[in-house]
Amino acid sequence: MAKNYKDYFIKPNLKEAARRTRSVTPIIREELVIDEELKEIVKGKKYLIRTFGCQANERDEENIAGILEECGYIKATDLEDADLIILNTCAVRENAEERVFGEIGNLKRLKAKNPDLLFAICGCMVQEETMVEQILAKHRQVDIIFGTHNIVNLPSILLKAYLQKVKIVEVYSKEGEVYENLPSRRNGNLKAWVNIMYGCDKFCTYCIVPYTRGKERSRLMEDILDEVRELKKDNYQEITLLGQNVNAYGKDLNADYDFATLLVEVAKIGIPRIRFTTSHPWDFNSRMIDAIRDYDNIMPFVHLPLQSGDSEILRRMGRRYTYEEYKSLYNEIRNKVPNVGITTDIIVGFPNESEEQFNNTLKAADELAYDGAFTFIYSPRSGTPAARMEDNITMEEKHVRFNKLVDIISKHALERNEAYVGKTLKVLVEGASKRNKDILSGYSEQQKLVNFKGKETSIGKIVNVKITKAKTYTLEGEEVDE
Ligand code: 5AD
Ligand code: SF4
Repeated sequence: MAKNYKDYFIKPNLKEAARRTRSVTPIIREELVIDEELKEIVKGKKYLIRTFGCQANERDEENIAGILEECGYIKATDLEDADLIILNTCAVRENAEERVFGEIGNLKRLKAKNPDLLFAICGCMVQEETMVEQILAKHRQVDIIFGTHNIVNLPSILLKAYLQKVKIVEVYSKEGEVYENLPSRRNGNLKAWVNIMYGCDKFCTYCIVPYTRGKERSRLMEDILDEVRELKKDNYQEITLLGQNVNAYGKDLNADYDFATLLVEVAKIGIPRIRFTTSHPWDFNSRMIDAIRDYDNIMPFVHLPLQSGDSEILRRMGRRYTYEEYKSLYNEIRNKVPNVGITTDIIVGFPNESEEQFNNTLKAADELAYDGAFTFIYSPRSGTPAARMEDNITMEEKHVRFNKLVDIISKHALERNEAYVGKTLKVLVEGASKRNKDILSGYSEQQKLVNFKGKETSIGKIVNVKITKAKTYTLEGEEVDE
């Protein structure tokens, strides 16, 4: 029997994605070569990418945009204008996926208006087989589905879509190589993302990321430093080193360096501001804290996910630390790094979390008094161990707990902000308010959003701002000279 194009679909498989091998990840350095035929077809066409989720996705968007521009696409200014629309999706919680499905529905009308429009979905969500099946069954307007490990194949996928006019599904379950020299079109000229590693091997029991992003693969330190040197030459003021768990940097390499070494080497290049995200307490060591303290251009800010303040829940989450261990790391950071900002992630309503266990989280939030926190209601991710755990806690109860936690987090966020009133902070000025050109905004070293009265000419610079007022999530102030 003749094969149908659907027989060529490459669909994901979460079980396969969970396998880990010890093999060393190959590094590909060759520059991407784009087929001349594709360039001919693409001439004058416009693309638009919508990204959901975390910074890993935002950096992927920049690489996808870079590849598309290499093919000859130009960036569209709005949806109506685009010949290729890509939704770059997130799978971390159910509501992230619901938003994507809403967006897929909204885009149906564009396809009706412009039958030549190509509509693609990529990112973490399409690494799940159930999502791919759902899109194929219910959303026929989607032309292309490609996975997080297939970004580099985008030119060949597009050529096939244009020439054969068939639907394409290409989602590898397993990570492949680490690509250096991928084209990139950065979204800003002040702040830049720098990937230092891909994937995650922690397998926290609630989390889908180790399945959607593959095993931990670190880039070589020299490659990262080269990228940072380039960014310095291009006058970037701030870089953020990215990884699902930056503190595990280098563990998969046979190298004599780790994240602390990398931080110091990056700092020596002299970019004015260095940040990193996200940290897992398990791999955080004292040398890393010392590096943050010792280098003025490593920002005094740490996002340190707690997830729960109860050691039994932490054990069931597979977090590999107790609350006491977390607290001692947290205190070491606070004690060693002056004026440090520390934020966190907390999940409420993990399967069968008891009242007492939840109260331990409340107590922890009160005791640690964070600068801020992202709080989430547990969302079962099919294929993960926690999704198979018994859960007798009602959604109503989870919402009540969520609100109690938000109250405590907000109270401390405000208190921490109030402590800055009267003090002067250094702010990297990102822009002016649309309504009032004299109101500028930017982030302080400890990642506080500051709105302040200042000179428009300060945009793009690091200036001193005297803080006059504190709100829960922002500070207000005035630019001062010294
Ligand atoms: N349900 C709720 N929150 C989750 N997170 C990750 N997986 C889930 C889930 N299944 C949260 C964690 C993580 C942040 C990025 O998202 O707190 O740190
Ligand atoms: Fe980022 Fe995780 Fe969402 Fe993927 S699932 S986009 S890695 S937050």
